[in-house]
Amino acid sequence: MGENSLTITDNRTGKTYELPINEGAVRAMDFRQIKVSDDDFGMMVYDPAFTNTASCRSEITNIDGEKGILRYRGYPIEQLASQSTFLETAYLLINGELPTRAQFVEWEHEITIHTFLHENTKKSMDGFLYDSHPMGMLVSTVAALSTHYPDSKNIFDDEVRQLQIKRLIAKMPTLAAFAYRHSLGQPYVYPDNDLSFTGNLLNMLYKMSEVKYLPDPVLERALDILFILHADHEQNCSTNAMRSVGSSQVDPYSAIAAACAALYGPLHGGANEAVLRMLKEIGSVKGIAKFIKRVKDGEDLLMGFGHRVYKNFDPRASIIKELAHQVFEVTGRNPLLDIALELERIALEDDYFIDRKLYPNVDFYSGIIYQSMGFPVSMFPVLFAIPRTAGWIAQWQEMLLDSEQKIARPRQLYVGQDERDYLSWDRRDNKAAAKEAVA
Ligand code: SDX
Repeated sequence: MGENSLTITDNRTGKTYELPINEGAVRAMDFRQIKVSDDDFGMMVYDPAFTNTASCRSEITNIDGEKGILRYRGYPIEQLASQSTFLETAYLLINGELPTRAQFVEWEHEITIHTFLHENTKKSMDGFLYDSHPMGMLVSTVAALSTHYPDSKNIFDDEVRQLQIKRLIAKMPTLAAFAYRHSLGQPYVYPDNDLSFTGNLLNMLYKMSEVKYLPDPVLERALDILFILHADHEQNCSTNAMRSVGSSQVDPYSAIAAACAALYGPLHGGANEAVLRMLKEIGSVKGIAKFIKRVKDGEDLLMGFGHRVYKNFDPRASIIKELAHQVFEVTGRNPLLDIALELERIALEDDYFIDRKLYPNVDFYSGIIYQSMGFPVSMFPVLFAIPRTAGWIAQWQEMLLDSEQKIARPRQLYVGQDERDYLSWDRRDNKAAAKEAVA
């Protein structure tokens, strides 16, 4: 075998194996030939949390963690953030190419006419407690959409699949807005098809008695840029959930609910909410030193810092930091920004964070902008889920159409008890008593 191979010698048997290397990786299944006897299952590779395991071959998003590079279908995130829109970026992620003018007009029309929800959805929303977390409401109500569209199970029918894709992109903002309005006890606002994707979201969130809601163009564009930045990010935790749950060939609404649930966690999409709570806990620039000590003592995490892939700066954080200043010109400066900037300055000079390559990630500044735009902290992960729906769908569709993929079912290293016989009640009680006597 040529130089593109790995030669492995199993010192237990002295046997040597040649494993082919393709795209910088070896196939885990190629290790199964390494055995100590004929009845040996064969060697596995152990990788908790998949820190060094490629689960798929993908053409959608590419990240270079050392260089701080993020590209969607080859286009640098900086160019998309400055020249594209979220809807155009969603089309790019899902279809692989930027749309022609005619393709975009049809795509935008299709999304616009699917923004409404079945009236029953309002009854589901009303069933939640007044102070329910909107992310919990979103996870539940997007799953419930699978009951509205039973044909969505025909995931290999391209026409059916494309219709569900448009419905999901279009309805996530409406579900999000309904959850927000429910939490305030305010009437639901129907979509306004005259407005842009983000303009309509602001309309459904904030419209009150005015006849026509007119979104602030600066905030409308800022939200559009934030949505572009959050649209996809390779095989992150929630995308892994989308691909894994989707691999059972369930409908896309149920798979998206699983992805939303994964995103909800404070180590993932819930981090922007956790950042705001952290900044409020720090209280002022004076409170930073005490908090940094808690982090170094392992009692707290610096939320919004660190990343599994970016071991340098997160390019999205840099763009969002710049965007903050534009938003504050409209909303007024958020005092928490001073704490965030000082926290970043300290963290970037402190060996504890430098040694661990902890830099601000996408969540560090996004929460400050969202708060300034009037969103409650609990809505922050919801504002992450809306744009990430495009990425989840693109990854889900790529998985479905990938002939190498099948139902996800990892192996394990069993380290539990060997075979043992069932114990009667008496023998259990005697065993427990004997154990207690020795302790
Ligand atoms: C997102 O994957 C993606 O692409 C996600 C995302 C996307 O777009 O989908 O980019 C969005 O989820 C961004 C991340 C948001 N989460 C946070 O901001 C929460 C705080 N960050 C950490 O929880 C952590 O940095 C992770 C979860 C983001 C990454 O964790 P890793 O890669 O598993 O790193 P690790 O936990 O192994 O940490 C290495 C060391 C450890 O210290 P030691 O045990 O070596 O002493 O760094 C420390 C960690 O304790 N560490 C932190 C820290 N993050 C890591 N210490 C303090 N504060 C932190 N934030």
